Amino acid sequence: MGSGGRFGRYNKRLPMQVRIAPSKALGGAIRLPGDKSISHRYAILAAIAEGTTTLKNFSSGADPHSTLGCVQSLGIVVETGEGEIKVHGRGLRGLQAPAGQLDAGNSGSTIRMLSGVLAGQPFASTIFGDESLSRRPMKRIMTPLTQMGARIEAVDGTYPPITIYGTRDLKAIAYETPVASAQVKSCVLFAGLSCAGETSVTEPLKTRDHSEIAMREFGADIKTIGRTTTVVGGKELEGRELYVPGDLSGAAFFLVAAMMNPEANVILYDVGVNPSRTALIDFLVGGGGQVKVLDVRSSGGELVGDLQVRNSKFQGGEISGGLTAALIDEIPVLAVLGATSENGLTVRDASELRVKETDRIATVAENLRRMGIEIETAADGFHIPGKQTFRAAEVDSFGDHRIGMAFAVAGLVAEGGETVVNEAEAASVSFPEFFSSLESIRT
Ligand code: S3P
Repeated sequence: MGSGGRFGRYNKRLPMQVRIAPSKALGGAIRLPGDKSISHRYAILAAIAEGTTTLKNFSSGADPHSTLGCVQSLGIVVETGEGEIKVHGRGLRGLQAPAGQLDAGNSGSTIRMLSGVLAGQPFASTIFGDESLSRRPMKRIMTPLTQMGARIEAVDGTYPPITIYGTRDLKAIAYETPVASAQVKSCVLFAGLSCAGETSVTEPLKTRDHSEIAMREFGADIKTIGRTTTVVGGKELEGRELYVPGDLSGAAFFLVAAMMNPEANVILYDVGVNPSRTALIDFLVGGGGQVKVLDVRSSGGELVGDLQVRNSKFQGGEISGGLTAALIDEIPVLAVLGATSENGLTVRDASELRVKETDRIATVAENLRRMGIEIETAADGFHIPGKQTFRAAEVDSFGDHRIGMAFAVAGLVAEGGETVVNEAEAASVSFPEFFSSLESIRT
């Protein structure tokens, strides 16, 4: 598939090289872009709700904008204004057959979650993506949607482009998903919105619950008991005014950067602190991180707080089982922190890392080694001994936003000059302002 080299590249934007000089102190305050996960969900639900939804602080990242582009191709009018967007929803049955193929860009969330909605539409749609997305498995959503009565074609039975032949007669199912994936759960629940009767999803481990919260906000009849969430189909949703909290996964880079720097005191304003995402904060604090969550409030059913982080000695530790699932997006930057920690970092049960935007076990290991850090990898994880020192080097994002940002953070504490991050433009998938925000807190 394609010729992107062994890690898979995302070449859509102009390549950008960023040089990171070491820093001694970090201070000040920043705001994060709106949460990527929540932005996708609000865009999709707003499209199939009745009436207008106003979204404030919608993510500036390319991925949620891929979702917006897709819903526009399905006949939804989206207006972009100062600090807010308006989505003019057309109800559960209001989407129109797209004139061409739907472009999900680099976004796994777009293709997997939107598929759930498209399964219940009386037309065929094809969704494609960039080279990285074209290597990511879709069978995990095809299985339940096929059970519900949609027909789906994919390359080699799993890879994008996928064509979904939707039906108005989608059947409600009780689905037990073998993979702990919020995208799969959301896909089935979104499909369930247009079925007659109750659709339920039981997950092996609890994953982020933004879809459940958002569906409730838009008026869906949905409840969760233990690991099972059930939605009653056929009820129209209503447009809302919602605020998207700052992205905690984006905040992770600043939390780690501040902890690792010799001197730091950084405030991150208005960050989403939904308990299904805050394992990161618990893990950092549990290992000695001086991270405080201040002034927690609620917005649209989501919790929001300000984070304060200071330089801290980190003990390191082990990430395995349910904790791996809860920290999956943060593992690249935690690997960077692990290398300088007292006792090192071990990650297990993380085979999902191999099917993210890149094979993140391979890309993390490659960049760490370029910076002189020792790491042992396994099929489903890695071990990084502690008390190591980063050496400035040329690293690569390999087209993966979280890899580029994680190694920019490593560059801040590297000895021996500037670290060069190649294909740094990949950060714009979730955080276009990342490098300017990082510069703004150097003191
Ligand atoms: C996401 C779920 C996770 C995560 C991704 C965003 C979501 O993926 O890695 O960045 O918004 O639901 P999986 O569902 O594949 O675990």
